[in-house]
Parts: sequence; structure tokens; C-alpha cells
Amino acid sequence: MLSKKIEKAINKQINAEFESAYLYLSMATYLNNENLPGFSHWMKTQYEEEMFHAIKMYDYVLERGSSVSLDSIKKPKHQWKNIIDVFEDTLKHEQGVTKMINDLTSLAIDERDHATVNFMQWFVDEQVEEEASVSELLAQLQLVEGKGSGLFMLDKEAAQRTFTPPVN
Ligand SMILES: [Fe+2]
Ligand SMILES: [Fe+2]
Repeated sequence: MLSKKIEKAINKQINAEFESAYLYLSMATYLNNENLPGFSHWMKTQYEEEMFHAIKMYDYVLERGSSVSLDSIKKPKHQWKNIIDVFEDTLKHEQGVTKMINDLTSLAIDERDHATVNFMQWFVDEQVEEEASVSELLAQLQLVEGKGSGLFMLDKEAAQRTFTPPVN
């Protein structure tokens, strides 16, 4: 079983993952309305990834014989200035999540919960990837200043993103 402290912390993170999913789905809607179907699809894939993160943690808590307590999910933002604003927000959001993941891993180290430390490593690596991919896209969007034929090309590329749940 997990210690009460760890159980509470992972439950909080599960809620944060659902909150991320909700935010990205809201961004997908905005991008769709802005006639950027490729980026809308990219964001919807991001939503699927966050749902996967939440369920991965959910399964882990139950596997450890502890309990999940689902909380309410904050209403997401609906409006952005433009696509660059969306991706700036995404990067800021992911940086905040990285901090949460690091804090949760540090807590597991303090509690000498080695199984949770190991479990959290996957998320530590995942955050490196997430921040890198969002930073790259943001830099490309800034390069084309979020408009014109450059944006059209980037949208076509963003449409190619797929999500395949990892085997473990
Ligand atoms: Fe996540
Ligand atoms: Fe994420």
C-alpha cells in the first residue's frame, strides 16, 4: 500500500493530468475554429496523451492497493489571441507540470517508496519529451510568425501526429 502522503500526492497529480487533458481539448476546439485542422488534431492527440497519463497513475494507485478519489476539473480557458499564444500557454503549462512531477518524485524519494520512484521515472522522461516537442513547434510558429503559407505547411505537418499508447 502507498503511504497516505503519496496516495494524496498521486491523486492530486491524477486530477492535474485530467485538467491538462481538458485544457488541450479546449485548445483543439479553438484551433479547429481558427481553420487549423492539423494543429487541432495535434492538440487532440495531446489530450489523448494526458488521458493516458491520468489512467496510468489511476491503475498504479489501485495496483498498490490504495484508493483513487476523483476531484472536480477546473473549467479550461477557451480563448487565445492566436496560435502562438496557444503554444506559449502549452509550454508554460508543461513547465508547471514538470515541476509537479519532480516534486512528486522527490516526495517518493523522501518517503523511501522505491516502487513509486521507479514509476515516476517514466513521467520524468515524458516531461523532457513534451517540453522539447512543444518548444520546437513554438519556435517554428515564431519563425513563420504564426501566419501565411508557412503556417499552412506546419498545419499539414501537425496533422500527421499519432498517439500509440506505450506497451508499458
Ligand atoms: Fe501529462
Ligand atoms: Fe503533458
